[in-house]
Amino acid sequence: MKVLMLNGSANPDGSTMAGLREMAGVFEAEGVGSEIVQIGGKPIADCIACGRCAELSRCVFSEDRVNEFAEKAKEADGFVFGTPVYYAHPSGRIQSFLDRVFFSQMHAMGASPFRHKPCAAIVVARRAGTSASFDVMNKYAGITEMVTVGSTYWNEFHALTKEDVPGDPEGTQTLRNLARNMVYLMKCLEAGRLAGIEPPRPEKDHMTNFVRKN
Ligand SMILES: Cc1cc2nc3c(=O)[nH]c(=O)nc-3n(C[C@H](O)[C@H](O)[C@H](O)COP(=O)(O)O)c2cc1C
Repeated sequence: MKVLMLNGSANPDGSTMAGLREMAGVFEAEGVGSEIVQIGGKPIADCIACGRCAELSRCVFSEDRVNEFAEKAKEADGFVFGTPVYYAHPSGRIQSFLDRVFFSQMHAMGASPFRHKPCAAIVVARRAGTSASFDVMNKYAGITEMVTVGSTYWNEFHALTKEDVPGDPEGTQTLRNLARNMVYLMKCLEAGRLAGIEPPRPEKDHMTNFVRKN
């Protein structure tokens, strides 16, 4: 059992990373593997809607870790997406990164690497914008039939730098409870699979745009 985590900050060792590490500690204690992928500080291209992912089953851009992350996702049993708050939204880089991961996988051949897997977003800010950022992050899970995991508070904590993180004990407690809930859900899903419970087949007959010609 393995959780794939993403640090959506350009800072590989900042507050977001401290939050992800808090959760990784719980996963380790519970005997669940985890890996933290760093989004890094280099430019991340946005989706250009070229549609090539439908032919290639991957994003046409290969200068960053988007395709690598999508490959790793196939083997993962759960996901944590961590982001700092920038002007009351998630970092631009994590949005560009996840837009391309999810759009390319939506158009790729084969089974979705995300469907019915637990997913949690965690957000960190000095002061404000956490709820709005959390809402944006959860949208990726909602449109891909993932299981959004909750905690004892919304998945947010407060810090300007990583040194501040221990100063928000309710925030770190929320992260640890979130990690435990993820482990519990992953075990439940595994038990269901072993008991022969089949996932439902989704209806996909309709894709109705709001603006119609007739
Ligand atoms: C461009 C930018 C915009 C930011 N906007 C906000 C904000 O809207 N609200 C807030 O409370 N903190 C804001 N911050 C502070 C960061 O969210 C905070 O320092 C966070 O801990 C950084 O996480 P990191 O070390 O993982 O990058 C902003 C920081 C930057 C660099």
